[in-house]
Amino acid sequence: MTQSLTIARPDDWHLHLRDGAMMQAVLPETARHFGRGIIMPNLVPPVVTGAQAAAYRERILAALPEGMTFDPQMVLYLTEDTDPEDVAAAHASGLVKAVKLYPAGATTNSASGVQNFDNVRPVLEKMAEIGLHLCVHGEVTNHDVDIFDREAVFIDRILDPIRKATPELRVIMEHITTKDGVDYAKSGGDNLGATITTHHLIINRNHILAGGIKPHYYCLPVAKREKHRLALRAAATSGDKTFFLGTDSAPHTDENKLLPCGCAGCFTATNTMALLAHVFEEEDALDKLEGFASKHGPAFYGLPVNDSTITLTKSDTATTFPEKIKSADGPVTVFDPGFPVFWDVT
Ligand code: DOR
Ligand code: ZN
Repeated sequence: MTQSLTIARPDDWHLHLRDGAMMQAVLPETARHFGRGIIMPNLVPPVVTGAQAAAYRERILAALPEGMTFDPQMVLYLTEDTDPEDVAAAHASGLVKAVKLYPAGATTNSASGVQNFDNVRPVLEKMAEIGLHLCVHGEVTNHDVDIFDREAVFIDRILDPIRKATPELRVIMEHITTKDGVDYAKSGGDNLGATITTHHLIINRNHILAGGIKPHYYCLPVAKREKHRLALRAAATSGDKTFFLGTDSAPHTDENKLLPCGCAGCFTATNTMALLAHVFEEEDALDKLEGFASKHGPAFYGLPVNDSTITLTKSDTATTFPEKIKSADGPVTVFDPGFPVFWDVT
C-alpha cells in the first residue's frame, strides 16, 4: 500500500554547509528538498562581518548545481568585537537574517565566540531595536558543569538574564535537547522560538554509548536521556508554532569523526524529510509535519512559506539511503536511524 503526503517545501533553520569541496558535496543534499536554510557561520575563519557574509553567500550560490534552487539565509557570527553598526547595515541591506551566539569553546569552531556576555550587550540592544533575530547555541562551557546539564544551566545563567534585559529581542533556542529547553521555550512568549533536529527526535544517550561508542551519533548539544527525547518528540509533533525544524546537519569526514578526539556533528541532510515522516507517523501526527518543517519557521522569521511543494511517499519496501556522501575531502557518513524507514521524498 502506498501512502503519500504533499507539503509546502520545507526550510532548514539551522544548517552547516561548510565551504570549498565539502560544501560542493553537501549542498545538493539539502537543496534537493529544502527551499531555504539558515547558514551557520562557524567557518575557519568565522563569518563575522557583512562583507564576509556577502562573499560566503556568493560562494554558496556558485556551488549550487544547475537546475537546483536554494536561498541561503545568511548569519553573522557574534564576537565580543562585533560592531553594532556593521550588523545593522548587513540587516538593512537584506543580506543577513540572524546573528549567532556561540559561547566560546562550546562547539566546532567556536573559539571566537562570547566569553563575557556583557561585552555583546550593545549588539543585542541594536538587534532588538532593528528586529534582527539572535540564534543561540545554548550550552555553558564551564568545566565544572556536567555536559548533560549544560543546556539547563545555560537557560538559567545566561539566556534568561539576556531575555529579561532585552525582552524585545527575538531569540531562537537552537537544537534544544532537553525537557527544560522545551518548557522554557513554551513559556517564552512570541519573541522566543526553538529549533529541534531530526536526530534528537531519534536518539538518546544510550544510542551513543551503550554497546560500544558510536562516533556518528556524537553531536553537540549531546543527546540526553530518553525522557528528554520524548519531550522533544511531543513538542515537535504538537503543532505549537514555537517549535520548528533546524537539522543542524553538520558534515565532517569519517577521518575526522573516527579519531581519539572526534568531531561533533550528525549529517542528516540526505534523509531528514523521510526520517521526520517516520517519526511523525509514529506519533500519529503526520498532519503536523508541514507546520514543523515548512510553516512555523517562516512565521517566526517573518518570511513567506515556500510556494512550491514536496511529496513524501510511503511504500512497502524500506528506502535505501546512501551510506556515505563522497567529497574531495573524504567520505561523510549519512545519519543511520538504526531502523528501516519506508518513507521517501518522491
Ligand atoms: O554537533 C555539532 N556540530 N554541533 C554544533 O554546534 C556544531 C556542529 C559543527 O559545526 O560541526
Ligand atoms: Zn550547528
